[in-house]
Amino acid sequence: MSDSSSLYTHNQSTNTLWHNASVTRERKEQLNGHKGVLLWFTGLSGSGKSTIAHSVEERLYAKKCRTMVLDGDNVRYGLCGDLGFSAEDRAENIRRIGEVTKLFVDAGMIIMTAFISPFFKDRKFVRELMGRKDYYIIYCDCPLEVCEKRDVKGNYKKAREGKIKNYTGISSPYEKPDADLVLKTAETSLDCCVDQVIDLLKNHNIIPSDL
Ligand code: ADX
Repeated sequence: MSDSSSLYTHNQSTNTLWHNASVTRERKEQLNGHKGVLLWFTGLSGSGKSTIAHSVEERLYAKKCRTMVLDGDNVRYGLCGDLGFSAEDRAENIRRIGEVTKLFVDAGMIIMTAFISPFFKDRKFVRELMGRKDYYIIYCDCPLEVCEKRDVKGNYKKAREGKIKNYTGISSPYEKPDADLVLKTAETSLDCCVDQVIDLLKNHNIIPSDL
């Protein structure tokens, strides 16, 4: 495990000293029977991020893998409850999530996040924080029209009426990622999307190929 202080220019926590664990990440991964990794689901609200992440988790649980899902809406009740949806607040949201996910990866776990994370620079921050091999971007690619038609939370309607400001896809941009895996969620079944994620984990030797 390494600290991420080099990414911060104004760290206020002075007189601190990094402590290295004796039960290392490698030892934890050995115990878990798979590697630690972050699967970062990104996409418009209603594009299927949470649904797929939780279904992947079900599949992995059945294979006795150690997992966790962090979901945008849920995290905004607690850890990020003080943040709104300005570009600055979204950046801080993603920064906190990045730091939290790093802890899970260092615990040898498979962590999946479901955040819109619309901005390239915020996703790049997490990539730099994690290091390339621990981080995969999964883009839930779903046309805005389809997300808007689903409108599970009724937010798109409110955004169109101007009742919610800065709504991603309506009044705030979504910058498409350079993803490791693109799931066409409007035209692919949930099961098939889950298969593709499991294949990614096997192809990168994160979980054993015979699992
Ligand atoms: S992110 O942009 O900072 O990554 P996050 O994934 O945490 O967003 O939260 C998105 C969820 O917050 C949406 O699924 C939606 O339910 C809710 N939400 C409320 N206001 C907005 C808004 N202005 N833009 C996007 N999502 C919003």
